[in-house]
Amino acid sequence: MADPAPNVTVTVKPNGPLLVVGPITLVDPTGQTVALPAGRPAALCRCGHSTMKPFCDGSHGPKGFHAAEAAPKR
Ligand code: FES
Repeated sequence: MADPAPNVTVTVKPNGPLLVVGPITLVDPTGQTVALPAGRPAALCRCGHSTMKPFCDGSHGPKGFHAAEAAPKR
């Protein structure tokens, strides 16, 4: 019997990153993987200004990133 799906939470931070709490495995465009264990949050950039993408480096603040905060209905 397969393991149950891991409980992953993605929280949209106001005018900031996506906060992901896994466990998850992040795969970058080169195929390199980064394991993010359960309970260890990772902030993923959604503004495009981070110098350490895909992770947030806090640049969204000084760059004045503003985003819609409510998810559209699906
Ligand atoms: S969301 Fe923080 S640097 Fe892009």
